[in-house]
Amino acid sequence: MTEPGAQRLFFALWPGEPVRPHFVRLAQGLADRGRLPHPEDIHLTLVFLGDVAANRLDCVLGAGGVVRAPPFDLCIDRLGFWPRPRVLWCGPSAMPSALLTLVRDLQQGLRGCAFEPERRLYQAHITLVRKARSARELRIDEPFHWPVSDLVLAASETVDTPPRYRILRRWALAG
Ligand code: 2AM
Repeated sequence: MTEPGAQRLFFALWPGEPVRPHFVRLAQGLADRGRLPHPEDIHLTLVFLGDVAANRLDCVLGAGGVVRAPPFDLCIDRLGFWPRPRVLWCGPSAMPSALLTLVRDLQQGLRGCAFEPERRLYQAHITLVRKARSARELRIDEPFHWPVSDLVLAASETVDTPPRYRILRRWALAG
């Protein structure tokens, strides 16, 4: 059962201007395939935490504060489809080592916060279409670069469809 005051939280990278329009354009080109996210909700999840009770929030915030990964560049050059959740996504075909460092830093920082460590391989992706109906021609004609300079802790405002998100805290990547 969800504890009172719990929030559904996740660490993420959140594209700001001027990168967000690239993602929006990519999503709009796939609009006939399913349901698109709100443009301001487009993000890349780093670590998903699920429901977090209020008394664990300080520990989670502490994990965001100890990240040592440097800023890095993400080349968004790949579209993919996961049939089970019926998700069309975009992402990098090459994982920058700084992104792996960032995820590892967070996971280490969260060790004292009583979360089950994620067992699945980390797959960096940005969901563009939910309830996708078609996976034909998955190609990005114009790859683009996302200079990543910060990370956020975000909350799912609703579990409705589509979910909306709220950014709770932002940390600069300083390396
Ligand atoms: P998705 O975009 O692939 O659905 C907020 O829900 C964010 O956390 C979304 O980016 C979502 O990924 C991700 N997420 C939701 N449930 C998850 C889970 N059980 N494991 C990992 N990531 C999850």
